[in-house]
This record gives sequence, structure tokens and C-alpha cells, in this order.
Amino acid sequence: MSEGSADGPVLIASNRGPVSFRLGDDGRLSARRGAGGLVSGLSSVTDHTSDALWVCAALSDADRAAVREAPGGRLGHDGTPGGSGVHMLDIPPAVFQRAYNAVANSTLWFVHHMLYDTPNQPHFGIAFAREWDSFRSYNRAFAEALAQDAGPARPPGQAGRPVRALIQDYHLTLAPRMLADLRPDVRVAHFSHTPWAPPAYYRMLPDAVGKEVLDGVLGADHAGFLCQRWADAFLDCCEAVLGPDGAQVDRARQLVSYRGHVTGVGVHPLGVDAAELSARAAEPDVQARLASLAEATGDRKLIVRIDRTELSKNIVRGLAAYRELLVAYPQWRERVVHVAFAYPSRHDLPEYREYTARVQRLAREISEEFGTADWDPLILQVDDDYARSLAAYRLADVLLVNPIRDGMNLVAKEGPILSDRGCALVLSREAGAAAELSADALMINPFDVSGTAQALHEALGMPDAERERRSRSLARAGSAVPPATWFADQLAALDRLDRPDELDRPDRLDRLDR
Ligand code: F6P
Repeated sequence: MSEGSADGPVLIASNRGPVSFRLGDDGRLSARRGAGGLVSGLSSVTDHTSDALWVCAALSDADRAAVREAPGGRLGHDGTPGGSGVHMLDIPPAVFQRAYNAVANSTLWFVHHMLYDTPNQPHFGIAFAREWDSFRSYNRAFAEALAQDAGPARPPGQAGRPVRALIQDYHLTLAPRMLADLRPDVRVAHFSHTPWAPPAYYRMLPDAVGKEVLDGVLGADHAGFLCQRWADAFLDCCEAVLGPDGAQVDRARQLVSYRGHVTGVGVHPLGVDAAELSARAAEPDVQARLASLAEATGDRKLIVRIDRTELSKNIVRGLAAYRELLVAYPQWRERVVHVAFAYPSRHDLPEYREYTARVQRLAREISEEFGTADWDPLILQVDDDYARSLAAYRLADVLLVNPIRDGMNLVAKEGPILSDRGCALVLSREAGAAAELSADALMINPFDVSGTAQALHEALGMPDAERERRSRSLARAGSAVPPATWFADQLAALDRLDRPDELDRPDRLDRLDR
């Protein structure tokens, strides 16, 4: 990687990268921007950073074909073979599928979001051993790539900034330890974009697996979380699973000492770059969607939700709450439309396919039950159209964000920033964003369908002046930590390890000598 910039070289690692490929009918590959909150947050930073290299996995056959055409898997952010900025790893498909689908998405995601139907799942039998082994191989592939991309090892005591590696999310929880073992001279941070499970739930993982995940994260110099609640749950797990003889947890300073190394734990809430988002939402494709959505809904009030079709997003209970609203408060019939955009996600997993079908079934039932000749109470779209989502934000009177559990939830932050008239936010207390937005949102228990219906009623009836005031305040809170600041904070947390005032902490000395 290139060296010598003022900021020093930075490596980023995440499962999904900033670019993905599609194979057209003509057999040609075309590149497009990677999807998801993590990718868009990080992309908005790396687009302006010349000295960052992003290591990611090839997710599909098209990605693998692109990697094979690119020397060393090097690509530009726009997908140019041999470009700089991206290193895409061609992990064997069977290993990747087991690591991504079976472990990351069906196990760790379910644990941290507490999604198991426990009488039946999880079931850690013979197949899991192989899946776990693949998860290790997948993490090792990242650690080895990062070790290589970090360039020549830096001798202890050498002046200048060390290479810093920012490893993202639950897919890569083992990689920090593996990288620290390979390259003790690299400063390593791990960031969790999900919640962290409380010990009683986390302990569903086989004991050795639970320990290995914690050990993996504790290989990092810094472990970041989106809110204090998830950081506390991580510290609770360190205490409960690794035990007082294994890990020493200093709550006041948020440090964990384990295996002779100290990991700092930090809270870095991720927000929105309001100027960039507003500029995007003013573009012609959004204007066009705005016109067609306005035509379809007339002068009715809009309750908007925008999600991946994701179990943790609680879309079915959200629809049930809308149905209850129309039953319990019939005065809203014909005066409101629920716009629900639920984009396809993780369709390799049967639970997600079944969930999507349930969402579609319930939406149909609501339309049939309440719809009239000139009123369709519900618009459900399950295809991905970013410009249409931005248009919906602009028109929203009420934004419904009711996840069972969510690391942050950027929809709750984006909506108030973009809404033309100001929107009332109905927000789950189980979203990480609640820590920053609860003062101006209508807070709900996501399992309480009747409570959610009541909150929708209050939100729809909120006086204009109050709605606009609250929405402005939500927009301020949602844009307080744009991705660039979030990113810089994590680098700063690593840099603090090199500051002289850290020297009086004997527990840090082994790291400072690296
Ligand atoms: O941690 C959550 C997250 O990584 C989000 O950033 C992103 O929206 C989502 O998961 C994407 O999941 P996947 O890559 O499996 O589609």
C-alpha cells in the first residue's frame, strides 16, 4: 500500500466491500456500488481518503470472475481491474457460504439480535463444527491479506505512524487476534455494527466458540460499539464468559486486560452526512419518484418505513400495528397511507424467504380488508430503489422504525434530515439510535403492537409546530456524528495508544513496545 501521507496508511476490512459486480446477459461484468449501511458510511469516508485500502470478500460468482481478471485482486472503487483502493478476496465459495450464511448470518447475527425461536433453535450439532472451521478460514484469509497489505514490518521504536487496520463487524470477529499475532506492529481496531448480546443469551453459543469470539475481538487494541448499551453487554460477556481469572474488566476506564494485552472499549455512534444526503435527495431521479409517489397518495398523511426485509426489523408487527390503528382509530381511514419499502435481503436463508412471504401476505390482507375504490391504505414495495426511498423520506409525516433490536438504525436519522415538512418519529427503544433520539421521538416497545398503534395515532395527530420542532432536533442529533467524524474518532482512539500519557499505564507497555 502507499505510504507517507500525513495521516498514515489505513486498512479497512469488511465482508461486503465498496464495489460489487454483475454478469450481464452478454457475459460482460458491470460494477456497481456495494449496498448496506456499513458500506455507505465507510464509502463516504474512503471516497475522500487517498491512503486507505479496503479489503473485502468476493460475494458472488460475478465478483469472483472480476477478482480473477484483476491482478492480485486489486480494484479501483469503481471496479477498474488493477486500480487502487480495493483488495477483493476470492475465498473458496463453499468456505465463504458456510462462514457468511451458516455462522455470520445464521448464528452470530441471530445471537446478537436475539432472534432464535429457542424451542427449536439453535442446534449446534455435527455440521456446526465444519461451519465454524470455515468461519476460522475465512477470518484467516482476511488476517493474512491485511498482514500482507500492511507492507514491511515496522521495527519497534521506529518513528512515524504505524499502519492502522479497522476491522468491521461480526463476520470478522476472529480476524483482530489473527492479525495481531501475524503483525504485532499494526494497530488494530474492531468495530461492531450490530448490538452485542447479553451474557444469558450469548451463552447459547458453544462455550469454546463464545470464548473464541471474545478472544478474537480482544486481539484488537480498540473495540468500538455504536452505543453504550452494546459496549456494556460486551464487557458483561467478557466478565461472564472469560471469567475474572481470564479477563480483567475495568469498567471506569472501559478496558479489558486479557492474555497480557489491553483492549480499550469505545462508543462511536454513527450518524449521517446531512449535506451529502440532502444533495442526493434533490437530484432529478428523486424528484421524479417524488412526483409519482405524491400522485399515488394524494393529500393523505404518509406513514413511511424503509428497511431491508430483515427479521430483526420487525416489519410484520409494524404492519399489524397499522392494521390496529385503522381498527382502533377509524378516523384515519381514507386519510392515511402506509408506504412500506422492504428491500430483499439474505435470500439464501429460508427464514428470510419465509419472512418476506409473510410480509407480503399481511400487506395483501390489509389492502383487501380496508381498501376502497379510491383509497389503497398500503403501498408495499419489495424491490430496491434508493431514489424512491429518498422521495418517501421527503414526503413522510410519520416514520416508523420498530426493530426488535438494532445496532444503530440510520433510517431513524435520515428521515428527519430529509422530510420536507418535518416528520414524527415512532422509534423502538431497542434500536441503538434510541440513545441519541429518544428525547424527540415517540418511543415504543417493539413487541407491543397495540402500543405501536397508539404511538402511530399520536404521531399522526401531532400539531404541525411540534412535529417540525421535534424533527429539526432529531435531524440535528442524527447528523451530529457524520461518517467522517465517526471514522476519525476510531483512528484517534488507536493513536492515543502512542501518546506519552499512556506510558504511565504499565498494562499498556506491551503494546507500546510493539
Ligand atoms: O451490521 C449490519 C450490516 O453490516 C449493515 O451495515 C448492513 O446494512 C447489513 O448488515 C448488511 O448485511 P448483508 O451484507 O448481509 O446484506
